[in-house]
Amino acid sequence: MSQRNSRAIQEIKQRLNMADLVRRYVELRRVGPRWMAPCPFHQETKPSFSVNEEEGFFYCFGCQASGDLFDFYGRINGLNFRETLEQLAEETGVQLDAAALSRDDRQREEALSRRRQILRMHELAARHFAHNLTRSQGRECREYMEHRGISPAMIERFGLGWSLREWQALNTALRRAGFTDALGVEAALLGASDKDGQIRTYDRFRGRLMFPIRALGGQVVAFGGRIIGNEDEAKYINSSDSPIYRKGEHLYGLAQARRAISQRNAIMLTEGYMDVVTLHQFGYEQAVGVLGTALTPDQIKRLSGFAANLELLFDGDRAGRKAALRACEMLLPRGLACKVILFPEGEDIDSLLRGHGEEAFEALRTDAPDGLTFCVQTLRGMAPRDAVDWAKNFLRQLTLPELMSRYASLLATGLGLTEEELRGRFAADRTRVRNAPQTQGAAPADARNDTRDRQIMTFAVRYPHSLERLREAGGHLALEAFWAKTLWNKLESRDPETIALELDEKEKRFWILCRAESAPLDNEEGELAALCRMLETSRRAKAPFAAALQQNAADPEADGMYLHALQQTLNERKRTHTLHQREKTDGEH
Ligand code: CTP
Ligand code: MN
Repeated sequence: MSQRNSRAIQEIKQRLNMADLVRRYVELRRVGPRWMAPCPFHQETKPSFSVNEEEGFFYCFGCQASGDLFDFYGRINGLNFRETLEQLAEETGVQLDAAALSRDDRQREEALSRRRQILRMHELAARHFAHNLTRSQGRECREYMEHRGISPAMIERFGLGWSLREWQALNTALRRAGFTDALGVEAALLGASDKDGQIRTYDRFRGRLMFPIRALGGQVVAFGGRIIGNEDEAKYINSSDSPIYRKGEHLYGLAQARRAISQRNAIMLTEGYMDVVTLHQFGYEQAVGVLGTALTPDQIKRLSGFAANLELLFDGDRAGRKAALRACEMLLPRGLACKVILFPEGEDIDSLLRGHGEEAFEALRTDAPDGLTFCVQTLRGMAPRDAVDWAKNFLRQLTLPELMSRYASLLATGLGLTEEELRGRFAADRTRVRNAPQTQGAAPADARNDTRDRQIMTFAVRYPHSLERLREAGGHLALEAFWAKTLWNKLESRDPETIALELDEKEKRFWILCRAESAPLDNEEGELAALCRMLETSRRAKAPFAAALQQNAADPEADGMYLHALQQTLNERKRTHTLHQREKTDGEH
């Protein structure tokens, strides 16, 4: 962003109070040093949305929406950055220089407008497919759904549809609405073939029962289509990646399930489109689907904002068991609780609920082992060498001390080892990794260094005026991760008043997280003293290895480690917040 814009932004922020702006949309209540309200960006009744008036940012502990004045205003009014800037500039009487809208802005603008068009195309496509269902050509699909027992209410709830057995049906509809063929291809709704140098576009989805995939806000961003009849073709085809959709980022049914998930503080995770629809029809409205891939970290991040308890529904075969083990391995270290429900061989949700009835399914749920018990059961059936490797690797991912002690002892007991043996093997392994010559980016992020980096940077971000004192204490020398060093350099070379404007998205998020902490910013001396003690201890402990352990600056893992650090910080904030809420409710009783 150009200098001029950034000065205008600065000025608008000075003239417009964050809390006053937010108060136009939600009712704020004073809680300690902050203002709180039910979050306007996700469905909730408890107030998780906090506004820091002095710092000029908001943060939601529920859905993790965060940002400054501009982010808030733009998001709540559905404006892009330029529109936001223009409206707020006008309101506050701040002069904008037209020339200051740099080429960067314009490029971002174009990308945004393409995204908006592609979203509109998906909306149109969803309506087109749904309408096909009501036409005479939709009869075979209607009959199929009836035969599968899908109720009209579910057709409505999930916006199910039918893609005609034609090559140009959707294509024609898109053209009529003024969209170009090229954009249709980019949106992954159309395919393109090159015939003698002539490009022809055609409908990708033909003769399929259509499942719209929605983003959290409810917008259709992709489709899955199930074949009906002709069994020679792929059973499902799914939208490929597009400017508005990345595989592994979304979950099928989350938009429909989010309310029930929040209310019940529980999530049911399953594999298929049909399974999700069936579960909802039977009242399990907290069900979502992973969409034909293994569960991804993105999906977990998305889910963990809504509820901390999951039920994993998988096939009882080898592949299903393996997928469930992998899911547990990803969920448990993040402090989430899960239960694993494996279906008897040959059964799935459909056959169980529709064939054997709800009682059979309820019995499976009641008997389902919790995540770690399931892992232990599965490990016992594996080769001992593999089992121990799995356990060591699992423990290595645990950075929360309370989880470490609990899971280490459960795993050890389950594998017939003493905890010391298992932990000993784990510790010995870690020493080897740490002392080994640094292989390019292959070494896992070391949990202790990672925590230290975060502690240092948290202080640096909370008290940028005290950077000099932290430097004297050796804070910058102790930093190891690339992200931390980069952020430190930025903090050091910029004016503390305007630094927030200069950070990239990830850094800004970290910045907000640190400053949104429930502890008020008034214990600078105490926090600095604690940090100095920590630095001193770690210096003494690692003196002989200090040189060997200094990481090279251009770390290809940096991005991953940054996200990891961010996630850890987030988890801690969330825990503090939950504790707070618990104390509050305890106090009320
Ligand atoms: N899937 C896919 N591509 C395939 C097969 C499956 O993407 N060729 C994904 C879909 O998301 C599907 C899920 O894997 O929903 C589970 O597959 P399956 O159990 O075969 O499908 P169901 O949804 O149960 O559909 P149905 O009950 O009609 O068989
Ligand atoms: Mn099925």
